[in-house]
Amino acid sequence: MSYQGIIHRYHEFMDLPPAVQPITLYEGNTPLIPVPAIADNLGGGFELYVKYEGLNPTGSFKDRGMTTAMTMAKHNGKKTVICASTGNTAASAAAYASRAGLRAIVMIPEGKVAAGKLAGAVAYGAEIIQIPGSFDDALSFVVEISQKSEIELVNSLNPYRIEGQKTASFEICDELGSAPDWLCLPVGNAGNITAYWMGFTQYNRIKNTGLPHILGVQAEGAAPLVIGHTVEHPETVATAIRIGNPARGEQALMAAEESKGRIIAVSDEKILAAQKMLASSGIWVEPASAAGLAGLIDRIKNNSFDPKGKRIVLVCTGHGMKDPDIIISRGIKPVRLPVDFDKVAEYILGGRIQ
Ligand code: F0G
Repeated sequence: MSYQGIIHRYHEFMDLPPAVQPITLYEGNTPLIPVPAIADNLGGGFELYVKYEGLNPTGSFKDRGMTTAMTMAKHNGKKTVICASTGNTAASAAAYASRAGLRAIVMIPEGKVAAGKLAGAVAYGAEIIQIPGSFDDALSFVVEISQKSEIELVNSLNPYRIEGQKTASFEICDELGSAPDWLCLPVGNAGNITAYWMGFTQYNRIKNTGLPHILGVQAEGAAPLVIGHTVEHPETVATAIRIGNPARGEQALMAAEESKGRIIAVSDEKILAAQKMLASSGIWVEPASAAGLAGLIDRIKNNSFDPKGKRIVLVCTGHGMKDPDIIISRGIKPVRLPVDFDKVAEYILGGRIQ
């Protein structure tokens, strides 16, 4: 049968009731794209892949967790869902709630949500509340609201979000035939690193696919898991991971430790350089999504990691179109020419055509 989304494909490995009716946009099944030019650029001699999660229906990996969270909200007779978000969760929740016929309320940090994400939440019809605070403030509010009402929380504290998101590691193992040696990914609220590790360990138990080392990467200005305490005023160009108090921080640290990997921080400059490098291989991702590559580059360059002979997967969590402003702000504009063939030809060919 044709592809019908992650619940349809991986239900047997998920902690979901057998008879649920999936709320789906046929998410998942994203490509694992080799990027040999980037590997060569970093010295070569290893396999490097991008798991391009920006190709999910709403442009980010959140759709994997949202299909499961929304399926269960509907299954349990909920009428309203709520989340805090740096943008992608909001757009995804909005889309899946509209699909399910549920009311969606999303709470975002004012002025810190990229244009493509906010537009998504509007387009899919969510009720959007913004606060002049951080993601962490918003999360504490929506958690409390959900505890004191019938409203369902669809942030990654919701265990069904993790059930869905872990399927990305199943796909990687199915594609490669086993787990990679390293998996590099951005860490914000720490749901995704938790989900990947759960998925890899589960698949390894059942299918003996092995386990990767996990490299979790935070932005320097929002790196609570690296510095060891909450960041009161997180700041980074990678607004998706502008989070100072990750809800699943403990689990993220455990995933790094158990996998014999680590969590590191990289500067905004390095994140943007990695974004550019991915784009030069034809893969445009939003800044946060380039953090995994930025972290890998950092470790190779400071000689704390030798990639030779390894198979490495970069998780690119969100599409570049989510955050057009960061590119436009570089100030590169199209060349403007008159509607005159000779002038066009002169520009392109450097002279008149005889
Ligand atoms: N990459 C992107 C593009 C994200 O949107 C997020 C999180 C992450 C990475 C980090 O994932 O939180 O599971 O560690 N975005 C959330 C949101 C916070 O509201 O959209 P995480």
